Amino acid sequence: MLKIGVMASGRGSNFQSIIDSIKSGYLKATIELLITDNPDAYAIQRAKDNSIEFLVMKPSDFSSKDAYYSRVAEEFKKRSVELVVLAGFMRVVKKPLIEAYPMRIMNIHPALLPSFPGLHGQKQALDYGVKISGCTVHFVDEGVDTGPIIIQAAVPVYHDDTEDSLSERILRQEHRIFPYAIKLFSEGRLKVEGRRVIIDAPRSELDLIINPPIGN
Ligand code: GRF
Repeated sequence: MLKIGVMASGRGSNFQSIIDSIKSGYLKATIELLITDNPDAYAIQRAKDNSIEFLVMKPSDFSSKDAYYSRVAEEFKKRSVELVVLAGFMRVVKKPLIEAYPMRIMNIHPALLPSFPGLHGQKQALDYGVKISGCTVHFVDEGVDTGPIIIQAAVPVYHDDTEDSLSERILRQEHRIFPYAIKLFSEGRLKVEGRRVIIDAPRSELDLIINPPIGN
């Protein structure tokens, strides 16, 4: 069974979707540890509710960012974590963690990368006027949302959308594709070739993930 480590900064609805996917048997994995940089993150409550170990670790308590991420890597390694999942972790991860987990850190971003990286991907898409947006799960490298793309799902952008309504539509897809990407990883169905991630899955399965029927 795949051992997962999670990092989250806030509400943790993606964290919850992973917990639920494990509970339902969809994902054959265990969550060994949650690390949060925010003592007020609701993700902590979710960890407590599900008897998942958590650590509150703030970068400001460390001498440098490298020292922080070295320690994060150490805590995950101590628990034999094989995959690190960034579920709304609002910081750019630095080298010591990336080198400890090369192509073994996944992030979810609320836009179709490479469009609209960084903060507020949903608002950026709305302001730009695109008619399709969505979400992206990618491996993490040293850039901001630049690592190899694993899977994406598309949603329409309507003229009367607000940042909230679009975010909500995208979030529903986040909760589908993140567990799916982790499942692919856990089953050894992902292969990274340069920037491209080759997925060993039938097209019919991928079609449903990438272009889901949208109900609102
Ligand atoms: C999500 O929109 C995710 O795409 C972004 O941060 C948000 C986290 O939401 N990276 P939650 O904490 O998982 O509810």
